[in-house]
Amino acid sequence: MPGRIPQSFINDLIERVDIVEVIDSRVSLKRAGKNLQALCPFHEEKTPSFSVNPEKQFYYCFGCGATGTSLRFLMEYEGLEFVDAVETLAQIAGVEVPREAGSRKQIDTDLYEILSSADRYYRSALRDPKLSGKAVEYLQSRGINGVTARDFGIGFAPAGWDGLKQALTRFPESKLIEAGMLVRNDAGRVYDRFRERITFPIRDTRGRVVGFGGRVLGDEKPKYLNSPETEVFQKSRELYGLFEARRALRELPRLLVVEGYMDVVALAQHGIPNAVATLGTATGQTHYEKLFRYTREIVCCFDGDSAGRGAAWKALSSAFPVLQEGRQLRFMFVGDGEDPDTLIRSEGEAKFNQHIEASISAGDYFFREIASGLDLTSMDARARLADLALPLIGKLPDGLYRRMMVERLSREAQISIAAIEKRVGVSFRARTGESVAGPPESKISRKLASYLVHEPTIAEGLSAAMGKELIAISGDTLLSLLLRRVLEQNLTDTSTLLASFVGEPEHDVMVGLTASTPSLSGEALKNEFIDGVRRFLEERNRDIYRSLAQDLHDDDSSERLAVYWKARRERDTGNVSETP
Ligand code: UTP
Ligand code: MN
Repeated sequence: MPGRIPQSFINDLIERVDIVEVIDSRVSLKRAGKNLQALCPFHEEKTPSFSVNPEKQFYYCFGCGATGTSLRFLMEYEGLEFVDAVETLAQIAGVEVPREAGSRKQIDTDLYEILSSADRYYRSALRDPKLSGKAVEYLQSRGINGVTARDFGIGFAPAGWDGLKQALTRFPESKLIEAGMLVRNDAGRVYDRFRERITFPIRDTRGRVVGFGGRVLGDEKPKYLNSPETEVFQKSRELYGLFEARRALRELPRLLVVEGYMDVVALAQHGIPNAVATLGTATGQTHYEKLFRYTREIVCCFDGDSAGRGAAWKALSSAFPVLQEGRQLRFMFVGDGEDPDTLIRSEGEAKFNQHIEASISAGDYFFREIASGLDLTSMDARARLADLALPLIGKLPDGLYRRMMVERLSREAQISIAAIEKRVGVSFRARTGESVAGPPESKISRKLASYLVHEPTIAEGLSAAMGKELIAISGDTLLSLLLRRVLEQNLTDTSTLLASFVGEPEHDVMVGLTASTPSLSGEALKNEFIDGVRRFLEERNRDIYRSLAQDLHDDDSSERLAVYWKARRERDTGNVSETP
């Protein structure tokens, strides 16, 4: 692995590059008072609610809540991973990204250089009649045209043992082995890994070649050979065709996950450029995480046979930990003996798209599979259904999507939501109950909650940003429960507010909050409330910062980083993100 990028460097970088410059060159900004505005690039809108604060160097969208620093913006807007976003930012600043000691950065550079030289060699071999043998004929027999071959960089590893080795003598042999391009056998002989195979370069999201897949021209075994994992190539992370899909389409509202290289290539040639494939491995959680950074909807294609169904189920359970509202996962099954490659050729784009439209949602598929063979009129079968469903539902991240799945299980198995939640182990209600009981609800948030019950109109004093942030970070606390009702349902007097909790577990606590009357009233109470909220947000952000700083190094997931940076910036400026 390349060495870590020093934290201090990233901090400096964010300070150094003006967020306005970063955003304005991608989304044109207009001045609006202290801030700059634009139509939000992260959701559809007609009037601008996307605002950039040059002073505090962050952006915020009142419409969709998107927020972060310049780094987060690059990750979200360009679909970059953390390290790549840092590189991009460094380019803007005109500086090199340093790596911490122990780094083997030198090797990486060499590996990329070797891989791209190999890529050039294979592509030119395909065009060289002395080397290409039957390769061109083979590609034609599979219906691949010249444009597609060029777009995907398809090449040919000639027959013989050392074509590539001879072409790349300028690199040390050991490095070529490390790059996976040469192999040393037990007798110590070193020769080309890919021989007499069509080559498919595997590119990372920045377009760098990180490995190859190679297909035989006939029926020899193995049919496909892939590069081994190297410092720059991890099969659990890479997806064949993702770079090409992003290059072909600016927006990726949907991505199709198929099984093979040929499927990706054939689909692209026939008008479906948004397909990707894993590299001879199952689609794992890391793949989904990566794909959901680029799209909201993933449609996985599987064979209709039992192996395909098995694979689909496995895919579903690896995807569960990353499924949440706003992310869609669907499954599509192709007929026996078919694959997307053969299907698109025989049926064409329009019909293939109909299959995609007819795909089944992860939720429907989940319940269909676990209910198959069960007679749900029997109580035993319904209990069995719950048994099968619970461990998986428990994997879903806490949130709206899981809540919906719990509700659905409750309907299908005819078991109460409370019973299901108890067995899933984490209960929304129980958690609220806990916070009601004391510890997790900080003193200050409880006090703020009591102010709000007494005088709901003081919430008007909050800026939209503060209100949103408060609701977002305080989870299911009394304060956020109240605030949501006040702001979203416009309940502006104590009695209607309390009445809205009748029949809910929080009702009694809410009433309890009215027991002591605040010493202040009117404007003074409002100011006290706003100040309190500000302090509360600062405190929470400090906590978030502290805990995130611990595991930041090993976690480049964009959401956590954004929270981290936000917390950090606010700690540094001693300010909460209040946007006018
Ligand atoms: P398939 O065997 O389903 O082949 O492999 P395919 O994609 O339909 O290939 P064509 O159409 O005959 O050319 C699907 C994927 O599994 C991996 C490859 O990534 C392949 O694209 N695979 C398959 C291997 O890694 N090794 C193999 O020997 C076979
Ligand atoms: Mn095939």
